[in-house]
Amino acid sequence: MEQRGIHGVWTHRWTFILAAAGSAIGLGNIWKFPYMAGENGGGAFVLVYLVCIALIGMPVMMAEVLIGRRGRMSPINSMRFVTREAGLHGAWTGIGWMGVVAGLLIMAFYSVVASWALKYVWATASGAFSGLDATQVGDRFSSLLADPLQMLCWHSLFALMTAGVVLLGVNRGLGAVANYMMPMLFLAVLVLVVYSFLHGNFSAGFHFLFDFQFDRLTWPGVLKAMGHSFFTLSLGMGAIMAYGAYMPPHASVAKTIITVGVLDTAVSLLAGLAIFPIVFANPPLEPGAGPGLLFVSLPIAFASMPWGSVFGTLFFILVTFAAWSSSVSLIEPGVAWLMESKKFRRAPATLLLTSIAWLLGISCVLSFNYWSELKPWFLLHRTPFDFLDFLTSQLMLPLGGLFIAIFVGWFMKKSVVVHEMDAEGHPLFDIWRFVVRCVSPVLVALVMVLTLIDSF
Ligand code: PHE
Repeated sequence: MEQRGIHGVWTHRWTFILAAAGSAIGLGNIWKFPYMAGENGGGAFVLVYLVCIALIGMPVMMAEVLIGRRGRMSPINSMRFVTREAGLHGAWTGIGWMGVVAGLLIMAFYSVVASWALKYVWATASGAFSGLDATQVGDRFSSLLADPLQMLCWHSLFALMTAGVVLLGVNRGLGAVANYMMPMLFLAVLVLVVYSFLHGNFSAGFHFLFDFQFDRLTWPGVLKAMGHSFFTLSLGMGAIMAYGAYMPPHASVAKTIITVGVLDTAVSLLAGLAIFPIVFANPPLEPGAGPGLLFVSLPIAFASMPWGSVFGTLFFILVTFAAWSSSVSLIEPGVAWLMESKKFRRAPATLLLTSIAWLLGISCVLSFNYWSELKPWFLLHRTPFDFLDFLTSQLMLPLGGLFIAIFVGWFMKKSVVVHEMDAEGHPLFDIWRFVVRCVSPVLVALVMVLTLIDSF
């Protein structure tokens, strides 16, 4: 059985790499990784995260791409196709459904963080940070959080930007972002690392990130690190499956994914190396500052470096672009499904889904002001922002990944897997298949169960 998609095919292997990297590299790397490492004991978190990327993230990512490539449709319909092909019960399609929902839930809080980056483009460009000290920079961020109306405006702008690209269609909408912005972001982060090396407390930052103190490790911390390895690779919700559907038929899945995974990890580690030396050199800041870490640390550097407001503006533009190319992939799986199965045209499908995410996002805007103390039991005593992050990163994405691994490892015919991986006779193929069958799912399940036991 061969499938033909209705959405077109990437023109080149590199287009796929750039698009997948565009989805993977985003706020997860530059905003979330540093703040989570800071809150969860630095090196201990980083080590678990790296192990998870290698043993779970990249192997499962290959599995996810190959489902998409086999099905050549939206995640829901690709799942339906491969499930039928394997003669299994339709319930497996649930992976696709959960993914579409997870995408919208992630978009809700993702858009709010992206809106901070947008606001900071404006703020750095107008020189708002010049000459400020660490405390004043922190106050600026707090006053943004205290202003729901302003946050709502930026949040809406970002939602519109995302809708705009999804409207154009991934092939056309994404090319420019991926081609030029990603390499530039990489360079900008490198420049910041050099700045931190010269002007920050580099050795404290380095030791914080890479000294593995196991006594700082807790099961909930391990789950967070594992969940983050899914989040950062855009895994477990169909984004990579949807992109895999547009992958040209003869391109090595393994090589492609390894490239994406390595690039993604490099950006995260470099972002950490840029941020923590600044944190340690400016005593009022602390690594556990929480979700604002990026926005209270780097502006300090921009405040004091020559050409700081120019470079800072450029940096936040690039962060916005990175967030943009990720948010597109949060909406795309659902849009592709509405178009295939519900006969929607692209425009209404995009508008519908972006609006749902935007509406939900308002609760995340309010999480930092009016509702900051409102942590109801049904959100597990969290604000909507924290709850959506928890629900998606620590439950839905790992569960999605778990089922994808089980499906590809145990239920997809080996010949189909070999064919789609383009891995005929490759010595590493069997190792990969073993990892996807036995290692990744067991690890994911184990971490989830142990965390659950630990929290009672
Ligand atoms: N990987 C993206 C980031 O790190 C976020 C994302 C998660 C995008 C899941 C798509 C799907 O910013």
